[in-house]
Amino acid sequence: MTGIKNLPGHVAIIMDGNGRWAKEKDLPRVEGHRKGSEVVREIVEASRKSGIKVLTLYAFSEENWNRPKAEVGALMSLLAEFLRTELPKMMDEHIRLCAVGRFSQLPDIVREVLLEAIRITKDNKGMTLVIALSYSGRGEIVDAVKEIVELAVEKKVTPEQIDEDMIARHLYTKSLPDPDLLIRTSGEKRISNFLLYQAAYTELFFTKTLWPDFTQEEFLSALQDYSRRERRYGMTSEQVLGED
Ligand code: IPE
Ligand code: IPE
Ligand code: MG
Repeated sequence: MTGIKNLPGHVAIIMDGNGRWAKEKDLPRVEGHRKGSEVVREIVEASRKSGIKVLTLYAFSEENWNRPKAEVGALMSLLAEFLRTELPKMMDEHIRLCAVGRFSQLPDIVREVLLEAIRITKDNKGMTLVIALSYSGRGEIVDAVKEIVELAVEKKVTPEQIDEDMIARHLYTKSLPDPDLLIRTSGEKRISNFLLYQAAYTELFFTKTLWPDFTQEEFLSALQDYSRRERRYGMTSEQVLGED
């Protein structure tokens, strides 16, 4: 535990900057991804020890399929290796693995280890680790709309019944809370199609640090920063503080 009051329940991270990290060192981009996957292990550990309930990591976007074939292949291999090596640790540490995204596009081997790890860890009661893989926030909303329209066609849903909660229940994240804190590394200040619906009131934290250089210490300082913020959800500060 960190001793930090007002810890975010759900932290989401856009792990960006692997390529630039490698370039700075005259290394191939894949070396940045390899170092990045070591940092993932560190941050999963820091989250678990801090008492974070849900950690969502943006590992691969739907747009990332457009990268050079060799880079996509290397990322997929690293991913399968990560899942294979981390599974025993996830069991020891009671971590439940979930995933969000369009998995049909994944290579069979990656999909198989992913689904197997989800199945094996499904009853774990510790932290929930969510991997966003072949994920697109707009795509997720489209998929939710399709499901709801199908229910409407079958006369199981009327237009009047459609509300924000119903849409949330048809997103890939249906059983998860919205993220409280979204961290993006590498200095870019954009969402890149991540959790568009869910991040309506998420607090944002941007750092220039490239993902392979991100540390447990900086992660804890992001949690500290979050703990000092006032989330107003459209109200006044006085209302939030109960003075009004
Ligand atoms: C993030 O690092 C990893 C993925 C998107 C898969 P990048 O590979 O995007 O690194 P930069 O942005 O090119 O530095
Ligand atoms: C976002 O990073 C996706 C992941 C971190 C997996 P990108 O590097 O793909 O985002 P853009 O293209 O710079 O917006
Ligand atoms: Mg990038």
